[in-house]
Amino acid sequence: MTITIVGHGYVGLVSACVFADFGNKVWVVGHTPEKLKRLKNGDPIIYEPGLAEMLQKNIKAKRLIFTDTYEKAVKDSEIVFITVGTPPKSDGSADLSAVFTVAKEIATHLAPRFTVVSCKSTVPVGTNIAVEKILNDNKPPGASIAVASCPEFLREGSAIQDTVSPDRVVIGSDSPEAIEKMLELHKSLPGKRVVTNLASAELIKYASNSILATKISFANLISFFCEKTGADVEEVLDAVGMDRRIGRTFMYAGVGYGGSCFPKDVQALTDTGKKLGVDVTLLKSVEDINQHARANFLANVLKKVKGKNIGILGLSFKPDTDDIRFAPSVYLVGELIKKGYKITAYDQAASENIRKIFGDKITLVDHAFDAVRGADALLVLTEWNEFKQIDLVKVKSLLNKPVLFDGRNIYDPVKMKEMGFEYFGIGRP
Ligand SMILES: NC(=O)c1ccc[n+]([C@@H]2O[C@H](COP(=O)([O-])OP(=O)(O)OC[C@H]3O[C@@H](n4cnc5c(N)ncnc54)[C@H](O)[C@@H]3O)[C@@H](O)[C@H]2O)c1
Repeated sequence: MTITIVGHGYVGLVSACVFADFGNKVWVVGHTPEKLKRLKNGDPIIYEPGLAEMLQKNIKAKRLIFTDTYEKAVKDSEIVFITVGTPPKSDGSADLSAVFTVAKEIATHLAPRFTVVSCKSTVPVGTNIAVEKILNDNKPPGASIAVASCPEFLREGSAIQDTVSPDRVVIGSDSPEAIEKMLELHKSLPGKRVVTNLASAELIKYASNSILATKISFANLISFFCEKTGADVEEVLDAVGMDRRIGRTFMYAGVGYGGSCFPKDVQALTDTGKKLGVDVTLLKSVEDINQHARANFLANVLKKVKGKNIGILGLSFKPDTDDIRFAPSVYLVGELIKKGYKITAYDQAASENIRKIFGDKITLVDHAFDAVRGADALLVLTEWNEFKQIDLVKVKSLLNKPVLFDGRNIYDPVKMKEMGFEYFGIGRP
């Protein structure tokens, strides 16, 4: 099949590479010439394990074509995907301007036959109906369209694996022809098929991210109780999760969730709920607890650190990605710099993105131990594998003071204290 993907971010580029890898011809439409130039040369521009190899292989096989014009791509395609960003506006609602701009561009370039236009961007209920109207209002004579919502569930850091092996493929459409084409495109992928209407498909994505965010905030809420009582949040959650109705998956106490999805999607669902007259108290609490988790961590650091030099391990919002959008690290680094602390940080993928925000106000180093050396306290903010079994004897010897704040609960508090660390986990005695 020949398809077009508009947007080449975490969702667009990974989807394009995977569909091309299955033998499809995939056009990728972008709007930033320098990024397109790098992509054409096989540079994936984002960090995602395995992406560079897949990109280069499919460019070489001529199945992946990057362009800044819609004309050839859209006319050549049976399905056109929209994968552009839907960032939060200041009131928490989703900014859909890129989705609508792209929909209009797609419409004007449609071939005089049937084309499916499918939104993979996360968009509030009703957006696909608006996209359908834009397409119908702007399409040339002879062209016919159907919209199909196909929300994306990949996780940064394991995006290729998630796309190749999804738990489910959700297809929302009122058009049997569109559903048939979408099922055909996805036929080589495993996972359950959920064929539904547009509204359900749109809501499934927000509901999924909101329950995941809720699990994290719930774990953090319990950690606040633990902090006040001497209970151990990991032991509490382990035991809670042994109940098969509950499970332990994704109940993480820590400095809170970040990234380009959970914060904005919880806020956008809150906004949709308000507009629909649905009580969104639960969603607001999820967001509030998340803010409190990072503020509480900062307060503990400010109270307990003696000295102005702070080392940080991990900046990305989660391991195996360079993405720092809404990462707790951005908030924490910003606040600490404002308060006059000197920050030296290490992250194996996200340093360049952090540099774009803080410039020379932060020292970024190429090795973990260089962030540790001479620090009055060490903050671990992302659970990258390389920190889990780091040589803690060496860490202690390099620190000016053996003070460690474990924002992801990756170390054993008993062992850390036995080693002579002043150790502060999240909700752990
Ligand atoms: N990142 C994730 O883990 C993830 C997972 C599931 C769903 N989503 C959703 O998918 C969508 C995209 O997310 P992302 O992380 O890939 O975003 P991203 O910021 O990495 O990429 C967005 C892409 O859209 C392009 N773009 C923006 N405006 C454009 C325009 N007018 N014309 C052409 N291209 C344009 C950008 O250049 C970029 O390539 C969002 O709605 C997001 O919520 C993201």
